[in-house]
Amino acid sequence: MNAISSQSLVQANFSRPVPTKYPVSRWTIADALKVRTDDPTTTMPLIDYQFPIMSNDVMIWDSGALRDMHMRTVTFKGWFVLWSLAVDKIDKTNAKIYDEWHSRNDRAYIGYWYSRDGVEWTWGGRLFQTSADLRPWEWSGSLVMREGTENKVDMFYTSVGAPDGNSVPAVSSGTIHADDKGVWFDGFATSTEMFKADGVHYANASEDPYFDFRDPQPFINPGDGQLYTLFEGNVPGARGQFVIGTDEMGAVPPGYAVDAGAQYGAAAIGLARCVSGWRKGDYSRWELMPALVTALGVNDQTERPHFVFKDGLTYLFTISHHSTYTGKSTGPDGVYGFVSEKGIFGPYKPLNSSGLVLGNPSSQPYSTYSHFVDAEGYVQSFIDTIPAAGQNAENPETYRIGGTLAPTVRLVLDGDRTFLTEVHDYAQVFAQSAWPASLAYDVRA
Ligand code: FRU
Repeated sequence: MNAISSQSLVQANFSRPVPTKYPVSRWTIADALKVRTDDPTTTMPLIDYQFPIMSNDVMIWDSGALRDMHMRTVTFKGWFVLWSLAVDKIDKTNAKIYDEWHSRNDRAYIGYWYSRDGVEWTWGGRLFQTSADLRPWEWSGSLVMREGTENKVDMFYTSVGAPDGNSVPAVSSGTIHADDKGVWFDGFATSTEMFKADGVHYANASEDPYFDFRDPQPFINPGDGQLYTLFEGNVPGARGQFVIGTDEMGAVPPGYAVDAGAQYGAAAIGLARCVSGWRKGDYSRWELMPALVTALGVNDQTERPHFVFKDGLTYLFTISHHSTYTGKSTGPDGVYGFVSEKGIFGPYKPLNSSGLVLGNPSSQPYSTYSHFVDAEGYVQSFIDTIPAAGQNAENPETYRIGGTLAPTVRLVLDGDRTFLTEVHDYAQVFAQSAWPASLAYDVRA
């Protein structure tokens, strides 16, 4: 493989036109019928009820390591850096931890951690100045080093909590600093909205009161050197009014009847392309593009989508819930995935035939969530709730709240199959490069 510098990758003109139309790939009912819970190759390890917590002051969930625009985790001046959605613990005795945890989305802010070894983490506090908040809450996104700069960094995130119900992908910019004692940030004083749900490419609030539109995950497309972002969306159209036809059903067994509730599943993995001067840090204008994958008739949420570019293949991962499956389709909370042989525009087929990559075990159905697969297959997730041995996983009196990171696991990505292979430390992060990142391999798909 040819090594090329990141500079040449950014400026590359691979002379491939940006397509305005491409076939939307589907996660079909027939695919979902193949989901198997508790298969050892696609199941998260059991988590000890006595798991360690990262902090007694904050509870954290969706998290992500500092990365570059090619989806590779980077260290900065020898430090590992991690952002997390966080809430401060109100009652440190944990007496009200159940309420504090389950209402966390309405208080969420983005904070950060730093670590020398990627295992022991120090909490750095809030990332943004309050002046950056367009709306009361900050939800998921990604913290990315800006290509070609020494220490500029952009936090793409979701601005949420306004009375109109809109959630808007936004970005705030700052600089990262480090010395031998730790890491800190400057800037992050303002935010810029990226784009809004238009009701044409993706459902908006008037079409679907439960619409999802969040979790921006930008990347430079290895195929054309342009900046795009993935995000979580829904298929445009009135909630519950979709017709589930043969395309959505796929090759179901003869006589299979679609359940009426299936039409409430309308998840879409969204794509947009940046058309402002992003090389100079202007992320203000984006063009919404058709969804890459839809789960119409199967599931209503495909969250936090992200890519891994490997072996010339494009792996698209997304998280989803047991509770958001619709009709007769079912599966565990966990990370699902799709693979394309022809770059980011697909067509995609589900990994492991079913789409399931790593689900929670049936004895701990809510053990982990918000899995993020890095460029080398390391998967980070947070601990949600762990039931006491033999206890009902739904009963708050018998489960322990997480609010901390789970053991990192590793997947082997082998064509259209994935295998769970390694289990590492709680909250362990592995880096693929030190910033400024040089491309040790050619990521062009
Ligand atoms: C996934 C998610 C994200 C959202 C965040 C809110 O875990 O639902 O889509 O940004 O959590 O907590």
